Amino acid sequence: MFTQILTKQMEQAFAALGYDSTYAAVGISARPDLCQFQCNGAMPLAKIARKAPLAISQEIASELLKLPEAAEIYESVEAVAPGFININLKDSFIARHINTLALSEDLLVESVTEPKTIIIDYGGPNIAKPLHIGHLRTAIIGEALKRLFRHLGYQVIGDTHMGDWGLQMGMIISEIARTQPELPYFDPNFTGQYPSEPPFTLDDLSEIYPRISTAIKEKDENGQPTAQALELDKSAKEATYELQNGHAGYRALWKHIVNLSVGDLKKNYQRLLVDFDLWYGESDSHPFIPTILDILKDKNALIESDGAIIADVSQPDDKKEIPPIILVKSDGSYLYGTTDLATLYQREKDFQPDEVLYVVDARQAMHFTQVFRTAKKHGIVADKTNLEFVGFGTMNGKDGKPFKTRDGGVLRLADLISMVVENAASKIQNKEDIDPEEIAEMVGISVLKFADLSNYRMKDYIFDLEKFSSFEGKTGPYLLYSIVRIKNILRKLEEENNPAGDILSAISSVERDLQLKLDQFNTVLWQTAKDKAPNYLCEYLYDLATLMNSFYHNHHIITESDPARKSSWHRLLQTVLRVMTTGLTILAIPVPEKM
Ligand code: ARG
Repeated sequence: MFTQILTKQMEQAFAALGYDSTYAAVGISARPDLCQFQCNGAMPLAKIARKAPLAISQEIASELLKLPEAAEIYESVEAVAPGFININLKDSFIARHINTLALSEDLLVESVTEPKTIIIDYGGPNIAKPLHIGHLRTAIIGEALKRLFRHLGYQVIGDTHMGDWGLQMGMIISEIARTQPELPYFDPNFTGQYPSEPPFTLDDLSEIYPRISTAIKEKDENGQPTAQALELDKSAKEATYELQNGHAGYRALWKHIVNLSVGDLKKNYQRLLVDFDLWYGESDSHPFIPTILDILKDKNALIESDGAIIADVSQPDDKKEIPPIILVKSDGSYLYGTTDLATLYQREKDFQPDEVLYVVDARQAMHFTQVFRTAKKHGIVADKTNLEFVGFGTMNGKDGKPFKTRDGGVLRLADLISMVVENAASKIQNKEDIDPEEIAEMVGISVLKFADLSNYRMKDYIFDLEKFSSFEGKTGPYLLYSIVRIKNILRKLEEENNPAGDILSAISSVERDLQLKLDQFNTVLWQTAKDKAPNYLCEYLYDLATLMNSFYHNHHIITESDPARKSSWHRLLQTVLRVMTTGLTILAIPVPEKM
């Protein structure tokens, strides 16, 4: 990376002059019209050395030019008021370095020095309920972060942490008990093997949950729950309690529900190119609830409050009130926080992670503050384990409100995907050698994912289908289209038997900018990882595609008569393609061959 090479050079110059080299950092120029790189170290040094910053920057600039390789590296090094050092590189130096990058296996992306273990908790689907719009961002952002950290050499474990243990399971079980009481799962005297096939299909299941969930919420004309609703609610809670306390028939039935549901979830996630290493659910942490309660009890952290058991998580320097975490309700049932603590305990025991990241809706921030504080304060996780909430904002419709179906209902994820893919299909031209359905799927997924990832995750954003589906502007389709353009040119070059060859010095500013951009890939990936902000990578890929397209318009690659020049462009484009493909693969955005 140029910034690294230049910083090392600058450090030598600083040291030779007796200046503190911690100020020697060289960054990409904030004024690309004036220079490519800059060092601002003379300003802080001026205060320490009590000299004018311009004088210091002049000293440094001439020292830098005395270094042994200076003649090869620098086109210009200039001290400018009030004390900047502006640097431009020699085109031959840029080209040589980009050629090295092009020939490297890893595109000169650095790997982490200590391969830490990171668990990423994302997805969070709820069994027996369809995935809805609220499950979109966690899946997309979580998957991108998982792939990014893995690419940088970390050990990464993606865990979907399914909601498979809550009231919705009790609701379904009690509803089946009501409608099919003859099933062996409900016979207290049953001693045999429960059937290996489920007594319902996935379609049955997707009909049962909404039915019972509506029935439980039914109100009479005074707005009070009806007698039947109360009755159903009571049975659902009882069934939940029995399930969690080991009722054999319920457990067997539950297993059927989980298996059917997971199969369906996998299909949906596959469409989004999302997959998890662990399909653990809340139920998997259940056996550790007594353990964590014992730990908290030993630490005298448990407080009784109105029959419930809670723990204080406030800290003296809190600016706003952080309410206590409720661990056991007065009816003996456990809560969301109890499960998350037990899960942390289990993760610590099984994987000793260095970090656990939670990619969850920003509205759950308080819950995680409570959980993390409890876990840290009472040793449920080690001191060194870094727990981080990676929140995100809401995807809104054009009206600025959370995306809804036309009649105001919750939009199913599958319906959203179909809508976007159908819209893409309407724009794809029929060509001989492409499968329009396959391309529409890829383009549609790129619309959805790039729209989501290119907005800073903490921000709410408006999903404007037409804007994000456009083949122009900062969109998924624009990137795919650019990639396909490169592939077409490369195909032609290969057909002509033009081999790739050494990258030569740029002959235009756009070619130079394109080369310089390729060098930034490593920095961008590390910045993206640091802030867990995939939008940086999106921005970079968009800039790279834009430069590539202007390069293409400015130079006639196919008709170029100088074979060395043509071979140089061949390699340059190959490298742009590799960077773009690697970037999009990290973002889990599909890349077509043709379109
Ligand atoms: N299932 C939850 C939901 O649908 C999300 C779970 C998030 N992860 C966690 N460890 N609590 O809101």
